[in-house]
Amino acid sequence: MPLRHFLTLLDFSKTELVALMRRASELKKMQHEKIDHAIFKNHVLAMIFEKSSTRTRVAFESAMTHLGGHALFLSPRDTQLGRGEPIEDTARVLSSMADIIMIRTFSHDMVERFAKCSRVPVINALTDSTHPCQLLADVQTYQEHRGSIQGKRVAWIGDGNNMCHAYIHAAMQFDFHLNIAAPEGYEPDADLLAKAGSYVSFTHDPAEAMRQVDLVSTDVWASMGQEEEQAKRELSFAPYQVTGELMRLANPDAVFMHCLPAHRGEEVSGEVIDGPQSVVWDQAENRLHSQKALLEFLLTQHKIKD
Ligand code: CP
Ligand code: NVA
Repeated sequence: MPLRHFLTLLDFSKTELVALMRRASELKKMQHEKIDHAIFKNHVLAMIFEKSSTRTRVAFESAMTHLGGHALFLSPRDTQLGRGEPIEDTARVLSSMADIIMIRTFSHDMVERFAKCSRVPVINALTDSTHPCQLLADVQTYQEHRGSIQGKRVAWIGDGNNMCHAYIHAAMQFDFHLNIAAPEGYEPDADLLAKAGSYVSFTHDPAEAMRQVDLVSTDVWASMGQEEEQAKRELSFAPYQVTGELMRLANPDAVFMHCLPAHRGEEVSGEVIDGPQSVVWDQAENRLHSQKALLEFLLTQHKIKD
């Protein structure tokens, strides 16, 4: 059996993803009932963070502790990666010591190169291209609130960024329709849009994207690494704020999601993110349960291979 990685949602089959979501909800119930599930004693997760994180880091560290293993936080500032040690060499060394590796970085190519030289599963914990772990939590959350996401309509309002790309992958894998509204110059990757075909519709008009949708999601206007573009982006993105007025164009039982961290008064109004349709806190908590399900899946696959 070939070594499995999770670099995008397309690395898993539709059946595997559906099963993973079911497992995430089971693990959540077990966690809430304080059922011991320390099945990966002495297993090590190495976590490389080249960008900041609150949710992803705490979710992976807590998940690994609950599973009976250990998580190592590695930053380029304190490792030889930051002093130019080649990615491939780092991958060979870390994967001879750790059982699974997680990477948050800028270039998606770095994660792919790392995975090629790794002897253990590699997880993409966010690149400039995509953020697949977040979508596991988003789909889990939608399903826990409203049932299966299959056949539903989802609106992505804002930047055609890593999160938008992850939503495009999710539409293809979980079989929902995605309406994207992004400003001119901030559209998602054209090749990915073409690949997604009829799973995705694109418009520059946020109101049009909100029609008959069951889930509305947005993200910051300037992602990590784009801080100096903030002022310029604010001008282009101002009409894309998810306000109460915009939310009223969606289906009445639509839920609102945001991967967080959020900027109230920019991409979303306080009225929406702190309002009754918002499920952002459940969504954040589900990072723990869905990533635990992901670790369990990949560590089990790896054991089978060994
Ligand atoms: N949503 C998300 O990935 O949060 P962090 O950047 O805090 O990990
Ligand atoms: N698009 C954001 C997501 C943060 C979780 C970023 O890349 O900074």
